[in-house]
Amino acid sequence: MNKFSIAIDGPAGAGKSTIAKRLAKKLGCTYIDTGAMYRAVGLYCIWQHVDYRDEAKVEEVIFSLKIDLDTEGERQIIYLNGRDISQAIRTDEVAAAASKVATYKEVREVLVKAQRQMQSEKSVVMDGRDIGTVVMPDATLKIFLTASVDERAKRRFEEYCKRGLTVSMVELTKDIMDRDYQDTHREISPLKKAIDAIEVDTTALSIDEIVDKIMILMEKA
Ligand code: CDP
Repeated sequence: MNKFSIAIDGPAGAGKSTIAKRLAKKLGCTYIDTGAMYRAVGLYCIWQHVDYRDEAKVEEVIFSLKIDLDTEGERQIIYLNGRDISQAIRTDEVAAAASKVATYKEVREVLVKAQRQMQSEKSVVMDGRDIGTVVMPDATLKIFLTASVDERAKRRFEEYCKRGLTVSMVELTKDIMDRDYQDTHREISPLKKAIDAIEVDTTALSIDEIVDKIMILMEKA
């Protein structure tokens, strides 16, 4: 197969990473989790006591970060300046910081450049918010995944339970709604469906059903 790229965008909890990972495995290509890269910037700020709400302060440090992605079997590993941060980035505090730093122009420029570089080197399935619109406008196939707020909160709840974390559904629902607002209302690269993206509502579909649906679309792309 020639080099190809699949862009998967959508709001928090729509199932992007699960679906993207499965697709990459089926197609034998690389999965790139761009959200993890924004989370890495958020985590760096928290660890270094840099106020992530202060754009100028974050832009001062953005060039001191080295973010690397790697895969080990099914697992995607993310390194920040050589340190494995795959687990550390999966907290609500880091998600909120990521969502904030993702509104800064310079942060987006640096990360988008790195993402485009990866696309130029190999076949990829990349997920995020601006993949079909900004990072890979020339993608072979663009998918926009959606699901109702309740369903997305339920999925997050189950994910947290599996990891032994306690969190309330009310809090999770509020967090999802806040992030939806922030992601769709920011000035630079807001979350929006690319004109040529195919929308897939995952509310009532199983993971296998969604993956099969996208594989069929890929055959036709
Ligand atoms: O997994 P979840 O959908 O909760 O979040 P994520 O994909 O890990 O992304 C974390 C944050 O980074 C999101 O709230 C987005 O605001 C931001 N992001 C972005 O702006 N652009 C991307 N391409 C990917 C993530």
